[in-house]
Amino acid sequence: MRSGSGFDETVDANWWRQATVYQIYPRSFADADGDGIGDLPGVVSRIPYLKSLGIDAVWLSPFYPSALADGGYDVDDYRNVDPRLGTLDDFDEMVAALHEAGIKLIVDIVPNHTSDRHEWFKEALASPEGSPARERYIFRDGAGPSGCEPPADWESLFGGPAWTRVREPDGTPGQWYLHLFAKEQPDLNWDNREVRDDFLKTLRFWSDRGVDGFRVDVAHALAKDLTEPLPPKAVIDATLPHGSHPFWDRDEVHDIYAEWRQVFNEYHPPRTAVAEAGVPAHRRPRYASADGLGQAFNFDLLMADWDAAAFRRIIEENLELARASDASSTWVFSNHDVVRHATRYALPNGTDLHAWLLGGGADPQPDKEQGLLRARAATLLALALPGSVYLYQGEELGLHEVTDIPADARQDPAFFRNPGVEVGRDGCRVPLPWTVTGPSFGFGDGKAHLPQPDWFGQYSVEAETKDEASTLRFYRKALELRRRLQTSEELQWVERTDASALHFVRPGGWHSITNFGTEPVELPAGTVVLSSAPLSEGKLPTDTTAWLV
Ligand code: NOJ
Repeated sequence: MRSGSGFDETVDANWWRQATVYQIYPRSFADADGDGIGDLPGVVSRIPYLKSLGIDAVWLSPFYPSALADGGYDVDDYRNVDPRLGTLDDFDEMVAALHEAGIKLIVDIVPNHTSDRHEWFKEALASPEGSPARERYIFRDGAGPSGCEPPADWESLFGGPAWTRVREPDGTPGQWYLHLFAKEQPDLNWDNREVRDDFLKTLRFWSDRGVDGFRVDVAHALAKDLTEPLPPKAVIDATLPHGSHPFWDRDEVHDIYAEWRQVFNEYHPPRTAVAEAGVPAHRRPRYASADGLGQAFNFDLLMADWDAAAFRRIIEENLELARASDASSTWVFSNHDVVRHATRYALPNGTDLHAWLLGGGADPQPDKEQGLLRARAATLLALALPGSVYLYQGEELGLHEVTDIPADARQDPAFFRNPGVEVGRDGCRVPLPWTVTGPSFGFGDGKAHLPQPDWFGQYSVEAETKDEASTLRFYRKALELRRRLQTSEELQWVERTDASALHFVRPGGWHSITNFGTEPVELPAGTVVLSSAPLSEGKLPTDTTAWLV
């Protein structure tokens, strides 16, 4: 058996419940071989940095062979490493080095679709209609005369039609296949036993190599009811009773995860999983249940306005939902799919971010100082909550979104499939600045695969390590202190007369107070152990969180 598969009594099976998980988008983290693309040896070289940050686990976004039609979420081979990122040996070395540093590893798994370069899809294209090879995907005859119209008018999430017509092996126009995302991402048919078994094999493959958990991409889309006639877009876009949409959040999806759970439980500690499932809050507990994936992302704070009442409602609801499935909640402000939170908070509540990015990020002008102030306050608040916090690489530097990437450097399919409507997600995926100057600010020796702006150097790890007031030093301190909170999961609200302040107490008399208002507020008695910005005459200033014991 490989490392990590052995029975280890000393490992706490509940390590994930209040973990701080740091997301690495590997192509933009650290580039060890100077080809402009981050890689696994790059991750290994930065393990001392990860350790000094004080995280419990890394979530590694896809590192599999891929044509990068969707940043690696188009997987050619689920049981291998993209040669540009390294080898399986590099992967093993990375797992061992992370574990040596006391850091767990969660990998991304992408089960809804493969890439169009996957062996299975190539075989499906070379095989006739109705063949077992086509049965692994979702092929349908077209509508209209000679099948020239798509089987349904559904749209892909990246814009444009969700069906693409193929050329049959004899060169004639043929059937259509479903892709809820880009056309390079054909959806798998999860009614097919071979598909199911192959994923169980993949879960064991990485678990045997010592992976501690999985982040499950589009977890709510796998089960589909595509009985003919397929309903039109207008019907599926209208509110259908929960669980009856042809592909989103069908109840049968949980049968798949019950099988996965059995695999996770073959290991000690059991492998963990977190569902990326864009479902209404009340549908989340099933994904997060102990006989399912165990945890689900909650993006509610990420989407909330900067507002005390909104934050409180979301926190209360999610703590209750997590209790309902005996899971712990997750808290997220940034990831590789959204505008960085330091930038979101720099804009007035309700700003249309797509339109704003499309305009080059100039109208309205972001108030960067306020954005960072609020981002730090929000993060400190979340770090005081029961549950796990998922951080995204670069937020610990207070990085802002890069808004001026030229069109010819863009990579996101959302940009290419939505001309004039969306610029996509490249602005939060720009390679990290490690040094103040130098080629690609220390990311690697070559030119970074996405252009870095001049202002990146001042946010670099080098600059921020030297600056006592930096966001990096603040994150390090917060994560070190948070370890003391990773005990019981209780939280008690403290009701206050100033409605714009959120105040709660955790076990051991640990207070967290956030001021969402415009005036400084009084702090309770106690010692301030950390604040996200300096206090003002002993009071908690606007847009600030403080921890007191
Ligand atoms: C969610 C991932 O986070 C996103 O980056 C990707 O484009 C889609 N799923 C499709 O895999």
